[in-house]
Parts: sequence; structure tokens; C-alpha cells
Amino acid sequence: MEKRELLYEGKAKRVYRTDDPESLIVSYKDDATAFNGLKKGRIAGKGAVNNQMSNRLMRYLEENGVPTHFIAELNERETLVKRVSVIPLEVIVRNIAAGSFSKRYGVEEGVVLDCPTFEFSYKNDALGDPLLNTSHALALNLAAPEELTVIRTLALRVNELLRTFWAGCGITLVDFKLEFGRLRNGSIVLADEISPDTCRLWDSGTQEKLDKDRFRQDLGRVEEAYAEVMRRMTEHDA
Ligand code: C5P
Repeated sequence: MEKRELLYEGKAKRVYRTDDPESLIVSYKDDATAFNGLKKGRIAGKGAVNNQMSNRLMRYLEENGVPTHFIAELNERETLVKRVSVIPLEVIVRNIAAGSFSKRYGVEEGVVLDCPTFEFSYKNDALGDPLLNTSHALALNLAAPEELTVIRTLALRVNELLRTFWAGCGITLVDFKLEFGRLRNGSIVLADEISPDTCRLWDSGTQEKLDKDRFRQDLGRVEEAYAEVMRRMTEHDA
């Protein structure tokens, strides 16, 4: 597979064309941003950790019936993925109150929700990714009704699978964000990444934060937290 020109550079990744029109190469960076790009920094080694962790989880999800964009890990930081047209929705599932949920609804961080919640944001940096409901998504023609049904079913299934996986590593899955895309044949697959950048992960015993909130909230030991999640996942596989 030949790496061709840079197609897109985002906050945490670069995407390159390949000699195959149906695939792309994603290259993970160490750059970190928060609060819609207002806070910028670098987390040493993050690119390699997120790449390998996300691939491990995408493989696990595939094995359990969730279609994803993953094809093959090329090296520490780079992965070959299926080319998709990204649906401009951030799909967020929560098990425990934190972040914008706590703020919006006045619920203390750490309160276990009676059932997992499911929400969309409109993936639009200029607007600050506003919260959006199903009728907004349909009115804006972001996805078809049956696509939204598939996305909801897959996101809740991913929640069950990831909760189980991480429980085996002594990690509690608080909440996470997914993105989905359409293949050329129209089928929906999970895209983007699954990592401590996109999930809130707490140590199940101490409730210590092992995710990007350490960067957002200046808690220190950010690199160590990412490495710790990776270490536990590797140990889990051994
Ligand atoms: O900030 P909020 O509480 O809405 O975030 C919910 C979850 O979605 C968190 O795990 C956060 O890391 C993730 N998220 C993300 N990218 C965004 C917004 C949220 O990965 N742009």
C-alpha cells in the first residue's frame, strides 16, 4: 500500500490518500486540544498509544459484530482504514455523569445514571459542536432515519462491549464519543478512534481519571495515564 498526499489534517490526526481509492492512511499525532481548540498542548507518546489502543478495540468490536473502518495497523502511529464519508455527528453515550452532562443538568460528577444516555452533537467546529436531537439531524439532512436507527443500535452495543472489556482491566467506562461513516455501498461503519482522547476512563478502585480530563483539567501525569490504560489492556491480552 503506497502512501500518497496529505488529504486532511485535524487536531489529533493526519489523513493521507493511498494508491487505492477505497482506503486511507491515518497518522496519529501527539498534539492535544480541548475546549474546541482553545487549549492546546502535546502529550508525548499519545499518537502511538491512541493508534494501537484504538486498533485493538476496533478489532474487538469487529469480532463482536460491530462493523468498523479498520483494515490494518501499518506501524506504531499509522493505520490503514476504509475510506468513508463521515456523518457529521458526534455520538455520545454516557454511563456516569461528567463533563457537559454534569454542567448542563446540574448533576454531580460521578453519579451513576439509571440507564445509559445517548446524544448527538453536530460535528461543526465553527458552531462549537452544538447538541442536536434526531429531528434536528433529519431536518439538516445529516443522515437518513434508518441510518440514525442503525447508529443508535451500534452505539449502545459498543457501550456494552467496551464496558465489559475495560471492566476486565479494572477500568470504568464513564462516557465516550463515536463517529460513524458511510462506505461507498451506503453501509454504516464505526470510524474515527476509541482512546483516552475520546472516552472518560476511571480506575475502578480509586476513581482516578485515566483520560484526557487530566489534560483538560491540568491534573498532571497525563502521559502516565494514557500509558497506564495501554499497559492494562496489554496485560489483559497476555
Ligand atoms: O464534554 P462532554 O462531557 O460532552 O464529553 C463526553 C465524551 O465525549 C467524553 O468522553 C469526551 O472525551 C468525548 N468527546 C470527544 N470529542 C468531542 C467532545 C466530547 O471525544 N469533541
